[in-house]
Amino acid sequence: MLLFANAAQVVTCAGPPRARRGPELADCGVITAAAVVTDREHVVEVGAQQELERKYPNADRVDCARRVLMPGLVDSHTHAIFGRPRYDEQEMRAAGADYMEIARSGGGIHASVRDLRARSEEELYVLAASRLDRLAAFGTTTVEVKSGYGLTVDDELKMLRVARRLADALPLRIVPTFLGAHEIPLEARSAPAGRADYVRLLVSDMIPRVAAEGLAQFVDVFCEPGVFTVEESRSILSAARQAGLRLKLHADELRPSGGAELAAQLGATSADHLAAISHDGIRALAASETVATLLPGTMLFLGKDRQAPARALIEAGVAVALATDFNPGTSPTTNFPLILTLAVSQLRMSVAETILAATVNGAAALGIADRVGQIAPGYSADLALFDIEDVRELPYWYGDRRCHATWVRGRPCHVTTEAQGARP
Ligand code: NIG
Ligand code: FE
Repeated sequence: MLLFANAAQVVTCAGPPRARRGPELADCGVITAAAVVTDREHVVEVGAQQELERKYPNADRVDCARRVLMPGLVDSHTHAIFGRPRYDEQEMRAAGADYMEIARSGGGIHASVRDLRARSEEELYVLAASRLDRLAAFGTTTVEVKSGYGLTVDDELKMLRVARRLADALPLRIVPTFLGAHEIPLEARSAPAGRADYVRLLVSDMIPRVAAEGLAQFVDVFCEPGVFTVEESRSILSAARQAGLRLKLHADELRPSGGAELAAQLGATSADHLAAISHDGIRALAASETVATLLPGTMLFLGKDRQAPARALIEAGVAVALATDFNPGTSPTTNFPLILTLAVSQLRMSVAETILAATVNGAAALGIADRVGQIAPGYSADLALFDIEDVRELPYWYGDRRCHATWVRGRPCHVTTEAQGARP
């Protein structure tokens, strides 16, 4: 047994094992004078410290030293496997080029595809492992990782094999998603029937192989004017469901196209981005189980003046999650707490809403809200200890790294040098 003692606050996020909505988002369960007992893999008990110290006299102790103990952050949307960074495009946008224009001229996702195809599995593994370490250093304990920079059978499978190796080797909890429908590859764009052929390749070859090899839990599509249409997205996601995989959708990111409505209709686990969601889209999500994953870092980095309508979504009763969208083109940040800052300052969310959106609702966006995202009995001991005294400081010290230590399945994940020394 391990007893986490002397936290200034324990933020439990405890409650039903599903996404929270509306008024349920008002309270993230902040308790004081509390301790947490784990059996190393799972949370056993949360309660008054004095009582738990009496009840578990032989437990090893972690001294939280007046820091804040929380569920580890659940980053349910990243493209963390990639080769070279795309800093050249940031300056092009500053000079007036638009994200979609850069993509149409063969840059953007296409640039990352060219780069990734030329790299070995080993090289990609080494790059991704160090980037995931950075995500972990900010308090993230679960990371969804998408393919989507390969866009051929072999290169997509290469990416997913990297994700599998990362999941086996790193302490982080990693959830793989197949995003072969991230772009129409350039070679297909220039052939007469190339577009239809690529959708067919996804549906009849790639998705069945990914499912058969157990390489992904989700299938995702970039549904956006200029990329995949709603009808193409529908056929790709229908094939995914038939293959037994769960669904995600990049929906209404830059222009409204009915993506949110499609995600709700197909029962997708999440619809992501939504900066350009329509009123009908909001209504459709509110009436569904689909989690709306907002990615405010992306709009910030692209220099857009619009953000997803978080208040309207929450007030309509939509289950809202937050994530980094960590990727080389539109959101090269590994700092999840910075996303919480943007959520409070730009999306007008309360601190409790952002904390639940980054834990319980992130877990719901990955279909694991019954195991991850709360400090409650039976939940995985996925914990983060932040160097703050009040949970409201997490979005407040913006851009700062306050994570002191994290645990995943009860095992140390990110460990600062100081925490390492202080470990029992
Ligand atoms: O979520 N929108 C599509 N995919 C990524 C961007 C990927 C890239 O530009 O490399 C996103 O923003
Ligand atoms: Fe994305």
